[in-house]
Amino acid sequence: MDADARKKAAARAALEFVEEGMLVGVGTGSTVNHFIAALAERRHRISGAVSSSDASARLLRAAGIEVIELNDAGDLPLYVDGADEATRHLHLIKGGGGALTREKIVAAASRHFVCIIDDSKLVSVLGRFPLPVEVIPMARSLVARKLVGLGGQPVYREGYTTDNGNVILDVHNLKINDPVTLEAEIGLLAGVVSVGLFARRGADLLLVAGADGVQTLKR
Ligand code: 5RP
Repeated sequence: MDADARKKAAARAALEFVEEGMLVGVGTGSTVNHFIAALAERRHRISGAVSSSDASARLLRAAGIEVIELNDAGDLPLYVDGADEATRHLHLIKGGGGALTREKIVAAASRHFVCIIDDSKLVSVLGRFPLPVEVIPMARSLVARKLVGLGGQPVYREGYTTDNGNVILDVHNLKINDPVTLEAEIGLLAGVVSVGLFARRGADLLLVAGADGVQTLKR
């Protein structure tokens, strides 16, 4: 099974958590795109979706699923999203697709976060994947200097603007032994909108697709 087939297997496994009449929080990325395709088969049995990005919102609407603003939705029973890296503690790096801020908001509004990945993304220590940090444009250099001070090597994601009109710094070479503390530390830097560490509010359940099928990891 290639990586895309594994992503699809993880995405289809998440359908098990979708209940009749649910309003479903939907993340962003190629794994989630498989989930949206699967969800389309059940579009008449859910009440709609709250999306973490403009890209996913477009796909959801194209699939015939109503997209509702989070402000009109209240708390969500379920959020399904992918990740760039995950540990067995269900701490995540997200934001490879640039949607980290809205993903963090939808995750915070959700009672149950099911994360779907292929097994190449399961790691013992986060940080091999460069950590995305969304930054207000005028603070880019300032935040970059502070991130160097924390031991990282920030790289400006050239030519990319987030759905919120901001820029992204991808921080290389961080060995993230204490993700909860680092998430707070980076999140408090002036000019940072959000950091792609999902540790304080990590996933509640991880579906990991590999050659032998889909494994479930829980907190
Ligand atoms: C987007 C994300 C994605 O969940 C993450 O990048 C994984 O993407 P993919 O499923 O394409 O591998 O955080 O901001």
